[in-house]
Order: sequence, then C-alpha cells, then structure tokens
Amino acid sequence: PLVSMREMLNKGKDEGYAVGQFNMNNMEYVQAILQAAEEEQSPVIIGVSEGAAKYCGGFNVAVAMIKSLMDSYHTTVPVAIHLDHGSSFEKCAEAIHAGFTSVMIDGSHMPLEDNIALTQKVVELAHLHGVSVEAELGRIGGQEDEVIVEDAEAAYAIPSECDQLVRETNVDCFAPALGSVHGPYKGEPNLGFDRMEEVQKLTGVPLVLHGGTGIPTKDIQHAISLGTAKINVNTENQIAQAKVVRQVLDEKPELYDPRKYLGPSRDKIKETVIGKMREFGSSQKA
Ligand code: G3H
Ligand code: ZN
Repeated sequence: PLVSMREMLNKGKDEGYAVGQFNMNNMEYVQAILQAAEEEQSPVIIGVSEGAAKYCGGFNVAVAMIKSLMDSYHTTVPVAIHLDHGSSFEKCAEAIHAGFTSVMIDGSHMPLEDNIALTQKVVELAHLHGVSVEAELGRIGGQEDEVIVEDAEAAYAIPSECDQLVRETNVDCFAPALGSVHGPYKGEPNLGFDRMEEVQKLTGVPLVLHGGTGIPTKDIQHAISLGTAKINVNTENQIAQAKVVRQVLDEKPELYDPRKYLGPSRDKIKETVIGKMREFGSSQKA
C-alpha cells in the first residue's frame, strides 16, 4: 500500500535498519524499484525530484505511474512517494495535492531561522494530509538536478541547530549534511559520525543519509547504528543502467528497439536495488 514514511522509518530506527530511497528517473525505474521491493518484501521509498517529475510530465504523472504499476504488480509492501529536495512551499504543496505521501523541504541553503519558518509551513500543510516531512541542515556536496553545491560551500550541520530545527518544526525525519556528496565520491567519503551521534541523541528522530552512492558498507552500518533509518540512492542505479545500455548497443550496433536495451538495463537497476535493500537490512521487513 501507499503510505507516508513515518511508520516505516520509526520502525527502521527501532529495529536497526534503514529504508532505501531510490530515485525514479523514468518508468523503468519505477518498475525495477517496485519489483525489487516486492521480491525482497522490503518497505521502499520512491524518490521523485522536481527535475525527474518534470521529465515525466509532472507530479501527477509520476503519481499515476507509480500507483498504476502498484496495481498491476499487486504490490503488498509499504511504498512511499517522496518529493526529493523540494525547493519551495509551493512545490511541496503541489506534490501533496498530486498524491505524494511524503515531501522533503530543502531549506538548507537558507539562514537557520528562514529554514525553520519554511519547514514549519510545509509541516503544517503536510500533516493535515497525513504526509510526512523531511528537512535538511548543512550542505550536501556535489550536484543533483539543478541543486549544485561547490566543495568549498559543502558544510557539516551543527548539532545544536539541528536540535532547534527538529524541535521547532516537528518534522518526521531529518537529514543533517555530514560530509556526504551527491554523485560519485572523489576518494573515500568522510562522514561526521561524532556529530551524527550527537544529532541523534538531541533530536531522537530517524536520520536521513543523502548521497548513498559509493559509501562503503562499514560506513552504512555505522550510520544505521547511530539512528540513520533512510538512505538515498540515485547515481548508483543510473551508472548501472547506463553501463548495460552501452554494452548492449556496443554489442549490437544494428539494434534500435528501446525495449531491447531498456529492458536489460531495467533488470540491472532491480538487481542494484535488491543489493542495497540487503545491505541496508530492510529486506523481509515489510
Ligand atoms: O537525494 C538523493 C540522493 O541523495 C542521491 O544521492 O545520487 O549520490 O546516490 P546519489
Ligand atoms: Zn539528496
């Protein structure tokens, strides 16, 4: 069934695993993610960025696609449709009215007080609709869609500010930027685990780890042990998909039917998602 993230993340935090947010880029992603979740009997979050929604034809198209594939597949596991890096109150409202069950409001580029005020406004509307909310503090490096953060600007969240934001907004989960990066890492990631522990102790809410691509398993496990209950993955699926498309087209230059290269690459996305679900510990937790 379609649900908000609230229950699945609280359960993950209590039982010591994380639920994956897998971003959709087109229909094949939705198919692969839903198939993986059902096979693994895992709760799942389908991340929809504003850019991906635009590519598909709008928030309503993304929702319709996810819902109708869930019908066709007779999906039994909990699925959340989550706005990834929502850029404004208006965009969050639009997503909520289109049927999203969860939204992220990303006010991380704003001064703390403004971020809090904006997040409060989104929470007020979202909770009225039973929709969960994720907020962010600090800056996650790298690029995702139009969100670009230069290395010099990427900053670790300050625990006391995180505590204030969570307390004053009543968000359901929280993403403290602690050295993770969107896209591939240049070298090993350097995650701020001390601060993560402090943020967890202060806030008590399930934490979110963005930039899940390329984080070593030991760091994933460490983050989960410190209250991380949601891990976002996009680039890793994109790389896996692109690799198969290239391979198929290289091997058969005469091939033109998209089903012949998007089909096999869809299977690769599914395989990648299953691997993450097992790594995050969410398999068999539906
Ligand atoms: O919000 C989405 C994620 O943080 C994705 O990060 O593309 O590095 O896996 P990633
Ligand atoms: Zn992110």
